[in-house]
Amino acid sequence: MSVLDVTVFPHDFAWGAATAAYQIEGGWDVDGRGPSVWDTFCHAKGGVFEDHTGDVACNSYQLWEEDLKCIQQLGLTHYRLSISWSRLLPDGTTNHVNPKGVAYYNKVIDDLIACNVKPMITLYHMDLPQALQDLGGWSSTEIADIFESYARFCFKTFGDRVKLWITLNEPYVCAKLGHEDGTFAPGIKDPGISVYLAGHNMLRAHTKAWHTYNTHFRPLQAGQVSLALNSDWAEPSDPGCPKDAAATERYKDFTLGWFACPVFCTGDYPESMRARIESRSLDLGYKQGSRLPRFSKDEPSPLGTADFFALNYYTSRKVIDLNGGSKKSELSFVGDQGAEGVVDPSWPICGVHWLAVVPDGLRKLLKYIKDAYTSLPVYITENGFSQMGPVQIEDADRCRFYQDTLQEVGKAVSQDGVNVKGYFAWSLLDNFEWSHGYSVRFGLFHVDFSTPELKRTSYRSGREYAAVISKHRSQT
Ligand code: GAL
Repeated sequence: MSVLDVTVFPHDFAWGAATAAYQIEGGWDVDGRGPSVWDTFCHAKGGVFEDHTGDVACNSYQLWEEDLKCIQQLGLTHYRLSISWSRLLPDGTTNHVNPKGVAYYNKVIDDLIACNVKPMITLYHMDLPQALQDLGGWSSTEIADIFESYARFCFKTFGDRVKLWITLNEPYVCAKLGHEDGTFAPGIKDPGISVYLAGHNMLRAHTKAWHTYNTHFRPLQAGQVSLALNSDWAEPSDPGCPKDAAATERYKDFTLGWFACPVFCTGDYPESMRARIESRSLDLGYKQGSRLPRFSKDEPSPLGTADFFALNYYTSRKVIDLNGGSKKSELSFVGDQGAEGVVDPSWPICGVHWLAVVPDGLRKLLKYIKDAYTSLPVYITENGFSQMGPVQIEDADRCRFYQDTLQEVGKAVSQDGVNVKGYFAWSLLDNFEWSHGYSVRFGLFHVDFSTPELKRTSYRSGREYAAVISKHRSQT
């Protein structure tokens, strides 16, 4: 392993770590917080590993100062956190503001700034207020305006100090796992239909929020707004097979392109998605036209509604064509996509089953984004390595992973000319890893969930990440 050359990163590179409210805060029913869909999903039991919940999580609601110490120990320049919508607005609307929620986030933001750490704030990281789910959630048309009011409230309340905003985290995951597979809250299994409706309303919500910022807040606050898109890097399983090659393009269109194409390219969904979903809707006897909604001319276009590209990258896939298979006649997202991503057997798996370690996939994906979508600056808003089973504080594999990954990011900057502005490790802390509960650990800091103190202890990877940051800051 060669030593990481930190001088390839620009002097103002953002060195960050990321978390999300439901995964770390706990305090689910204290100080006026309203329930979110994840509270409901966990309390219903059966959907999460050993029925774990985020009721307490890392208790960051009470132990924020401990998190701040971790942030300082790492020497981060940036910290990405999310706001719990229902802690701020318990029923999801601005009709009722929770002053204790406002006070909590004000303190977090003020403390970060006092420590010279810039906050990047995500408005929505999977945790819709349950009251809004009861009105139809992301499947309802009204949600876009309700989200816009929430975003406006946050820009007004915190935007004097927060200059980097993410409206939505991973609309793909929220739509697909939450509304197609039912493995994430709100647990809807409605294959081939709700997934596109939820994705569409998320794009409408994002678009409205960006326009509100652009018109009413940017002139005074001078910040930037985007949405965080997740994507695997994808390559054909058999590079010599034209069907696999075409399937790979569809796979990319149905994951990244679904959201990136409307925002960065055309203002509309990728042509492959529109054509396939329309023709399959007809073929499968779906009476109401295409299952993929259309953008209305009466609303602002999503095109141009991002000031930077925010990318969450974890893994890569080899893609096989599924057009002739059993999914052909199935009403489902994967059937529409006509492609399936599989793990190459040569790739090591770290912890959780889906996470094949492919650091150079990130470099390829960054180049693809530059070539296919935009030359806007890119922030890697999430990337990380998980551990399962016995805790290893001396996490040599994760250390190697971060070295290799940062090496690849460096090549994207110096050799491919990608304007990467920052990197956020997922995650600052071990936390509630959605349907895997606490069985999967992504932290740079270990959290001892077996005692009420929830003690944070740096992994070796945390110390090494701190050393990289400090080296970069001293050399540039
Ligand atoms: C992302 C998600 C994070 C985190 C991570 C690791 O999809 O935004 O909340 O859980 O995956 O699985």
